[in-house]
Amino acid sequence: MVVIKYLLPALAAANLALAADCGGDGTIKISSQGDADGYSSCKKLKGDVEIDGKARDTITLNGVKEIEGSFKAESATNLTELSAPSLESIGDKFELDGLTILSKLSMGSLTSVGSIKWQALPNLQTLDFGKSVSKADKVEITNTALTNLDGISLDNIGDLTITENRYLKSVNLDGLTKSTGLINFAGNLNSLEVELPKLISGSNMTFRNVSNVSVPSLHNLTGQLGFWGDGFKIFSAPNLTESSDLTFIGNKEARNISMPKLEYVNGGFHISKNDKLKSVEFPELKKVTGAVDFSGKFDEASLPSLDTVKGGFNMQSTGNFSCEPFKKMNKNQVIHGKFKCVGETKNPKTKSGESGTSDSSGTSTGSSSSSTSSGAAVVDNVANMPAMGMAAIFGYLLQYAM
Ligand SMILES: *[C@@H]1O[C@H](CO)[C@@H](O)[C@H](O)[C@H]1NC(C)=O
Ligand SMILES: *[C@@H]1O[C@H](CO)[C@@H](O)[C@H](O)[C@H]1NC(C)=O
Ligand SMILES: *[C@@H]1O[C@H](CO)[C@@H](O)[C@H](O)[C@H]1NC(C)=O
Ligand SMILES: *[C@@H]1O[C@H](CO)[C@@H](O)[C@H](O)[C@H]1NC(C)=O
Ligand SMILES: *[C@@H]1O[C@H](CO)[C@@H](O)[C@H](O)[C@H]1NC(C)=O
Ligand SMILES: *[C@@H]1O[C@H](CO)[C@@H](O)[C@H](O)[C@H]1NC(C)=O
Ligand SMILES: *[C@@H]1O[C@H](CO)[C@@H](O)[C@H](O)[C@H]1NC(C)=O
Ligand SMILES: *[C@@H]1O[C@H](CO)[C@@H](O)[C@H](O)[C@H]1NC(C)=O
Repeated sequence: MVVIKYLLPALAAANLALAADCGGDGTIKISSQGDADGYSSCKKLKGDVEIDGKARDTITLNGVKEIEGSFKAESATNLTELSAPSLESIGDKFELDGLTILSKLSMGSLTSVGSIKWQALPNLQTLDFGKSVSKADKVEITNTALTNLDGISLDNIGDLTITENRYLKSVNLDGLTKSTGLINFAGNLNSLEVELPKLISGSNMTFRNVSNVSVPSLHNLTGQLGFWGDGFKIFSAPNLTESSDLTFIGNKEARNISMPKLEYVNGGFHISKNDKLKSVEFPELKKVTGAVDFSGKFDEASLPSLDTVKGGFNMQSTGNFSCEPFKKMNKNQVIHGKFKCVGETKNPKTKSGESGTSDSSGTSTGSSSSSTSSGAAVVDNVANMPAMGMAAIFGYLLQYAM
């Protein structure tokens, strides 16, 4: 009798623990707070967890510290708040998509996720991530109302894609030292300032429509570095020594592009349509394996250390810079591809015959077609082909993103 009296509650508790299925076979689906509460005794949820589209108002996942698989919420258009106060890690993807009225995302303990993919969260203005996510291999954030990315502080990253966040004012990833994939900013708020103060090495980095990019520690890139339609007056990469393709197109306010230690461009180097840029000076630049293609309104051009250009060389400006040093380089076989240098020209052109300035004078169909047939583009050498291809690919990506 005595035994039973004590045994019964113990058995009941044991049964309850067993009843709390912590996943393992199939995706855990949560449609209501009641469903979520059913897992509150689980420290770890095995497998994937999905918040159902029917979920509404607030869902709080209490107690759970770890989700072994992915954590997804898609098209839950009546969900205003999603919280998981104890959740420390998500093994696989953390995906939120089409949560149109979600305004609070609260994960005070979260530090590690496999990857983040958030899109179409038009009412999400801040992250309530007390501890900050410091580990994620990929982060993609598109079309949210976030004003900053506080709550995400990574040391390393594969791909970082931040697009169409129309309220994003500032991004400061002050722990990031290395990126191994593509860092891509496009179509966010035009006044967005991006600061990557400790980033030392990267692969591909592309910036569109940002107002400022700060990369004071950047030392080398194995991929391309490109700027299109950005608003900075000064771009400075004081420690950058090498990069693959380098591109500056249509940065209307740019007055100064400063890369005083740049030595090696493993690809093409393209500057055009930066109408306020008065000088192009790269004092340490020694070798470009693609083409040098600078056009615009600059009055000064100086590449005093240049000793090898494997591709062509095209330099055209409305300004009165001197072609003499470049002609000499061409004579000395520094330049292996086709050479063209013209100052004080009304319609400066890029190597492929496009206008080198953003005002209309050079874009009239007459002049650009005649210039294309004059051969500037025909002599593209093999080394420059990837550069052009890549520019086209990124152009396409932008259109898609916008
Ligand atoms: C959201 O709530 C409205 C009103 O209750 C309902 O008609 C609609 O079906 C709900 N949407 C979803 C995705 O459950
Ligand atoms: C950089 O981007 C190009 C073009 O998309 C791609 O071929 C290349 O693999 C990328 N490099 C790295 C290191 O991600
Ligand atoms: C832009 O970034 C540079 C560093 O690259 C910094 O010196 C400058 O103050 C910034 N400009 C603005 C307007 O924030
Ligand atoms: C720039 O590089 C030098 C030498 O490699 C290093 O001492 C310095 O700390 C770097 N500056 C920044 C801001 O990382
Ligand atoms: C890039 O710089 C880092 C740090 O200075 C160095 O360890 C690495 O070898 C460099 N990579 C290349 C390809 O030069
Ligand atoms: C963003 O930059 C692109 C160039 O890549 C430009 O065509 C576009 O007009 C810019 N968008 C805005 C809103 O400034
Ligand atoms: C460009 O900026 C760099 C660094 O801020 C500075 O040293 C240099 O004098 C500037 N060049 C011009 C032409 O303004
Ligand atoms: C262009 O520069 C050269 C040499 O620097 C000078 O002789 C010439 O007068 C200048 N032309 C104009 C139109 O300023």
